[in-house]
Amino acid sequence: MGEITKPKKRKMKGIVLAGGTATRLFPMTATTSKQLLPVYDRQMIFYPLNTLIKAGIKNILIIVAPEHSGQFLNLLGSLLKKHDVHITFEVQSSPRGLAEALTLGENHIGDDNVALILGDNIFEDDFAKQIKEFRGGGHIFATKVPDPERFGVVKFNKNNKAVEIVEKPKEWISDWAVTGLYLYDNRCVEIAKKMKPSDRGEIEITDVNREYLKKKELEVTLFGGEWLDAGTPDSLLEASIIVKEKGISRNFHPILDQAINELNEELRIRSKKRLQ
Ligand code: TTP
Repeated sequence: MGEITKPKKRKMKGIVLAGGTATRLFPMTATTSKQLLPVYDRQMIFYPLNTLIKAGIKNILIIVAPEHSGQFLNLLGSLLKKHDVHITFEVQSSPRGLAEALTLGENHIGDDNVALILGDNIFEDDFAKQIKEFRGGGHIFATKVPDPERFGVVKFNKNNKAVEIVEKPKEWISDWAVTGLYLYDNRCVEIAKKMKPSDRGEIEITDVNREYLKKKELEVTLFGGEWLDAGTPDSLLEASIIVKEKGISRNFHPILDQAINELNEELRIRSKKRLQ
């Protein structure tokens, strides 16, 4: 009898989407990227990076807008190298939508699975368990919001199974908004490649999620911790306050903490040299 071969266990790659135009944060984003603006005591990008690093992800692609690529490279280009976390960059020439991350990231994803996170999303909860235990299909994370009409919303049936995802529903279908962390198996690249732009001209991540839902392969984790989407002046301010109050930046993975402390030390040395 032939030997049974186990399906290959795929690794999890990470992608942070840090492009976009951030029009709602003008004029602050005239000079830098939204994801490089401070949230309490560090740049916004560190929070989504922390979510991925806490889950043991070692290869992370950051998607950036062309005008800010140099700033990202300066901050993160070699920050985590000696900690065995490899960061690479890909330029998105114009903001064609969240699902474009999957086609821009095709080579990075290779034969593996991917955890995609939005660069302006901050999670209090730790999703390391779900990310480490991910085996296939799609997996999204939803939280209760008071204003579901602003988000992609999940509708559940009587047995609490997700049956539909509606982008910015005009009529109430549920309070559960889809947040900016998505886990996909390798098929997501092909799914994204086939996608057509929506009416607003973007390749929509909701369409990727719908595709997995259609196949009955979409898992939804509901969570109750803070979810901060720092895209407007008010939510950016609120994010800093909540991060401080809840000690979210005090609870980073030791690798990232150490790297940030080393950066601070290097900056102190550089500033001393300048004063001499
Ligand atoms: P959005 O907040 O939807 O878009 P934006 O950042 O351009 O802001 P605004 O609506 O104020 O103009 O984007 C969510 C996240 O995804 C954010 O971190 C930027 C990122 N993004 C990309 O990297 N590429 C894209 O094509 C889009 C649309 C967003």
